[in-house]
Amino acid sequence: MQSPVIEQLSEEAITRLVNEFYARIRRDDVLAPIFAHAIPGDWEPHLQIMRNFWSSVMLTSGRYKGNPVAKHKRLEGVELDMFKRWLALFDETCRDMFAPAIAAEFKVKAERIAESLKLAMFYRPDRPWPPQDALKGMT
Ligand code: HEM
Repeated sequence: MQSPVIEQLSEEAITRLVNEFYARIRRDDVLAPIFAHAIPGDWEPHLQIMRNFWSSVMLTSGRYKGNPVAKHKRLEGVELDMFKRWLALFDETCRDMFAPAIAAEFKVKAERIAESLKLAMFYRPDRPWPPQDALKGMT
């Protein structure tokens, strides 16, 4: 059965989003193995961190204290293209759960943060940005 659309952001709404998004991540052929490798055991600490993160971003609660860039730089097997998939899955989850204006707000924030993570992980001063592969078919 479909849950009612969430019209108001709250800590509880963020908890529901985080649970649903990472349930979908764990079913995703491409993203699941990256996460399974980085989080081989209990997922609860990661989910708690992500609740704090989105609460800080969307509700300016200041609950998240961490360094996402450093964490992501240490991950094994991540490719630039995977960010498109992560963002599509995140947006799809938000649109399934939230009123359109809230889903749109999540999308803007997620895209902005993804851009800085991508730059931190993949930008090289001696190579074109975005990489030429990413431009294929766009010109
Ligand atoms: C290809 C895309 C991505 C992959 C494969 C990925 C994967 C991961 C993994 C495996 C972790 C757990 C790291 C650990 O505990 O050692 C993690 C943590 C995290 N991710 Fe991502 N991520 C991606 C994109 C994003 C994006 C776009 C955001 C934000 C909009 C984000 C926000 C975070 C945050 C806040 C943490 C917690 C960092 C901490 O421990 O303080 N990630 N990510």
